[in-house]
Amino acid sequence: MRKVAVIGGGNVGATAAWQIASKDLADVALYDILPGVPAGKALDMSQAGEVFHFDARIEGSDKIEVIRGAEVVVVTAGFPRKPGMDRMDLLKKNVEIAKAAALGIKQHAPDAVVVVITNPLDVMTWVVKEVTGFPKQRVVGMAGVLDSARFARFVADELHCSVKDVRPMILGGHGDTMVPLARFSTVNGVPLSELMPAETIAKLADRARNGGAEIVKLLGTGSAYYAPAASATLMVEAILGDTGRILPCSSYLTGEYGFDGIYLGVPVALGAGGVRRVVSLSLDAAEKAALAKSAESVRTGIAEAKPML
Ligand code: LAC
Repeated sequence: MRKVAVIGGGNVGATAAWQIASKDLADVALYDILPGVPAGKALDMSQAGEVFHFDARIEGSDKIEVIRGAEVVVVTAGFPRKPGMDRMDLLKKNVEIAKAAALGIKQHAPDAVVVVITNPLDVMTWVVKEVTGFPKQRVVGMAGVLDSARFARFVADELHCSVKDVRPMILGGHGDTMVPLARFSTVNGVPLSELMPAETIAKLADRARNGGAEIVKLLGTGSAYYAPAASATLMVEAILGDTGRILPCSSYLTGEYGFDGIYLGVPVALGAGGVRRVVSLSLDAAEKAALAKSAESVRTGIAEAKPML
């Protein structure tokens, strides 16, 4: 079987490992610096194979060498938010962690595609690209899939329709400045504007924008992990299967949408080798302005992270 590695054995990492293995997408290596924990979680998960009928092997270790041979590496290591914190507040603490992960990947999985989840997402994805020196296609951030999934949930609940019919689209950085695009979000092809008033769309978009914080507040300690892990799993599936699915992901931009040298959430076609191409949408003035604001916040984060590498 093919192999995927997950760096970070906390809630997001362990849940991603579980989803990838239990769907039989690949064998999974779970790495964490904590001795015992990744091996224990991996053993526990692997013992569900008979019950859930999956053959994927799951190995956990505190030795980074465990990631060897992985085609995709998912980076989840890092501190989560506490109530009241912004994702950017994690920057200083998580740069070191993302850097260490990137060095390990460069050494032990030099041909892998890397999917980054660590926050602040867009900045950490940039850190991983910078430290590994991998081509832009091979380092991609998970954010838009999650933000869009949250928006889809709220839309489905509002309309009492199946969430499977909701095709949402949220662009921008994974933060307070993300840009829900009502114009490009549909329910089975029907634009949202045909189905609900603009104020309702704005209210649901706002809830999606604050979707992570809403959960952080409820949990008290830690942040969301089921839907973040599911979003990463979907990206892993697209990469392993070379499906070319068009998903909003944090991608390195070299001129697309008018931005250069930063990571930002945009629709991309994901396949073997990572980002096949960035899909350019023609945005109106308000959408462009919102995306520019989001890009500015990512740019500020990158400037802060740069001297720490
Ligand atoms: C969230 C974290 C993963 O949005 O950023 O829940």
